[in-house]
Amino acid sequence: MYVCICNAVTDCQIRKAYCDGACSMRALREKLGVAGCCGRCAPCAKDVLTQCRQQNARQEQAGQRVPVTRDDELTEPVAVAG
Ligand code: FES
Repeated sequence: MYVCICNAVTDCQIRKAYCDGACSMRALREKLGVAGCCGRCAPCAKDVLTQCRQQNARQEQAGQRVPVTRDDELTEPVAVAG
């Protein structure tokens, strides 16, 4: 279903972005443009984000999945001397 009409973003795209590391509304806005125009989609997008977090937590508890790395936790590769 469409979550953000202004940017034609679906819940599936938000779920995929979450799996790719966009774990916050700020990250979703930067990656997909969600809530970047009129903002009416923000509550629904937050609901999808919450569902993703809950599903991820359940999978982690069951040992089925490693935690998602947030985009803002990523760092540049470090050169190794030697
Ligand atoms: S519906 Fe998402 S910014 Fe307008």
